[in-house]
Amino acid sequence: MAEVGIDGIEIRTGKLKLDLAETFAPAQGDDPEKFTKGLGLYTSSFPDVYEDIVTMAANASHRLLDRKDLSLEDIGRIDVATESAFDKSKPVSTYVAGCLEQVFEDDLHHANKGERKFACVAGTQALDDAYNWIRAGRNQGRKALVIATDTALYERDDPGESTQGAGAVAMLIDENPDLVAFSDAQGYGSADETDFLKPNQQFPSVDGKRSMQVYLARMREAMEDFERNGGDTHPDNFALIPFHTPFPGMVRRAAALGFRHCIRGTEVEEEVADEIGHQPREESFDSHDEFLEAQKEYTETLTETEMYSQWYAQTIEPTLAISRYVGNWYTGSVHIARAAGLQEALEEGRDLTGRQLLVGSYGSGAQAEIHAETIQPGWEDELGQLNIDEQIENRRDISFDEYEQIHDVHNHAESIEMDPLTTPEGEFVFDGWGRMGERK
Ligand code: HMG
Repeated sequence: MAEVGIDGIEIRTGKLKLDLAETFAPAQGDDPEKFTKGLGLYTSSFPDVYEDIVTMAANASHRLLDRKDLSLEDIGRIDVATESAFDKSKPVSTYVAGCLEQVFEDDLHHANKGERKFACVAGTQALDDAYNWIRAGRNQGRKALVIATDTALYERDDPGESTQGAGAVAMLIDENPDLVAFSDAQGYGSADETDFLKPNQQFPSVDGKRSMQVYLARMREAMEDFERNGGDTHPDNFALIPFHTPFPGMVRRAAALGFRHCIRGTEVEEEVADEIGHQPREESFDSHDEFLEAQKEYTETLTETEMYSQWYAQTIEPTLAISRYVGNWYTGSVHIARAAGLQEALEEGRDLTGRQLLVGSYGSGAQAEIHAETIQPGWEDELGQLNIDEQIENRRDISFDEYEQIHDVHNHAESIEMDPLTTPEGEFVFDGWGRMGERK
């Protein structure tokens, strides 16, 4: 049976930039290094007044189909993953399809459309749905369009405010893919949690510190489940490990725990043992708390070893290159991490064809999912087409006053008037309810 995976990818960032060190920190009375060093974030992407989850999704999808020289006939399924939906009945994919129908002057009536929801992990769930649909042979030769799109805004003065972001990732799922092929082995860690929720509200209610603990706990469970299901997590197996990245500091923590877990009982643990000793084993301690304390100390020492630094620099650091400048995109976040890692590898001339990625997705509420992907021979050409660096560079830097206004616009879209800060050119724009996605 043919491999199935991601054949093409396009990324669309919101057109405005909020500089966390220069603009946000002074206005909030915070030390800029809290954001740049503590969270690992420099700037965040914001949508202009004419941008929203539909326009960003449609603009990314349009470029993807155009670049791949596809017609709407080629697409049999459109799934949108989002936690910023504005319609409780009509899925966002129908709005996106409407945009694509305008520009391609054709219809998508034959395509199945849906919306996936499970916080940030929904983008990966939508990829799974597309994979299963193709593997089951129900696609009749057609491809799936999976889009992860969010305006990840928090209440003003919420601790999460500095991690905001906005953007869309469109992915084409097909047989014999150019970018990565999915493997069958998967692992899940899933539990009913209430650390981050949006029950009938625009902005999330978040217990930030707890959400970080839940992320790590579910990720560990998913890793163990992946191993039980036949996945081999030896750290040398993977060229890159893209994680869900709400902010790079979260991944820094997850990576340290992940590395400690994956080297356990391997020759890598033996190699580092000469320097820092073996990992603490629970049976050697009188209490669980003592064990946890020893484990924490071991992990800290482990991250200071040369072995860990080299592994982190190769497999984790490159995946954070985009996120540092765009913030959290919720459903799109792990997919920008994958693209960033591959883009950095391309720039460094690394030969990754046939190598594996270990992808760690996560959504609050809460569920982590781990799976492996194999990098395909066409990856360099495909990644070479991305223009996300140019988009990031061209964003309009906003003042704090503008930021306050634009935040209000996205909070009460109908009632607050504000002129756009950038000019749309040949793209879909939001032009008032009922005229969604009109192309200017
Ligand atoms: P906070 O209270 O603003 O920050 O909350 P802090 O005081 O904890 O500081 C953050 C880090 O900066 C710490 O580093 C500080 O030490 C350091 P750490 O100890 O963690 O290594 N720091 C400094 N470093 C250098 N110089 C300084 C300085 N000051 C402090 N001067 C928090 C941070 C993440 C809780 C907040 O931003 C938040 O609530 N964010 C939203 C929730 C979130 O992102 N959670 C992540 C896990 S859940 C998830 O990923 C799911 C999600 O994407 C949603 C979904 O799935 O749908 C959010």
